[in-house]
Amino acid sequence: MFASGYGSNLEAIYTAISSHTLRGVELVLVISNNSNSRALAFAKERHITAKHISLLKFGNDEEIFQKELLKILADMRIDLIVLAGYMKKMPNGVVEKYLGKIINVHPALLPEFGGSGMYGLNVHQTVLRSGKRISGATVHIVEGEYDSGKIILQEICPVFENDTPEILSDRVKEIEHRILPKAIQIVVDRI
Ligand code: GAR
Repeated sequence: MFASGYGSNLEAIYTAISSHTLRGVELVLVISNNSNSRALAFAKERHITAKHISLLKFGNDEEIFQKELLKILADMRIDLIVLAGYMKKMPNGVVEKYLGKIINVHPALLPEFGGSGMYGLNVHQTVLRSGKRISGATVHIVEGEYDSGKIILQEICPVFENDTPEILSDRVKEIEHRILPKAIQIVVDRI
């Protein structure tokens, strides 16, 4: 599991596994690019291996960063990667090695409002500025480019005139917490 910030999606997955709603999955590793993320603290408190790994930590050397990620994933025998609020791009070598086995949750209705720079509250800000009255969440397979790849599940919610990015984010996260564990189950049952 990769997470950058608060980790509410990580928590939703943890809860789904603990309550046996999500079956056949073990949460063994949490990686974050952010050493102060609540996601890392959440994992540590539950004795899940938690690692702070970032491109920055390797002097922005993408090759070393990728090598390190691949080594950890192999050492831990990871067979499914979930990007649960991960704000960085997954290195190409990792996407190629785990093709079809990386799941991402995105806080809008892809293919709209995706791509470079579209993460977290930026996405909701852009949706609000667009004047659209519908948003939602998407869970998809990662296939290289930002926010591209086969969509597994998508669900819509309304956008109200007085919404702020934070209010819309909370509404969308409610959907994410439901559809992300469901989408993981779909992929796990297939592999
Ligand atoms: C979630 O809304 C997730 O969809 C989004 O960041 C938030 C993380 O929340 N991810 C992206 O924008 C990735 N492109 P969380 O830390 O509470 O799970």
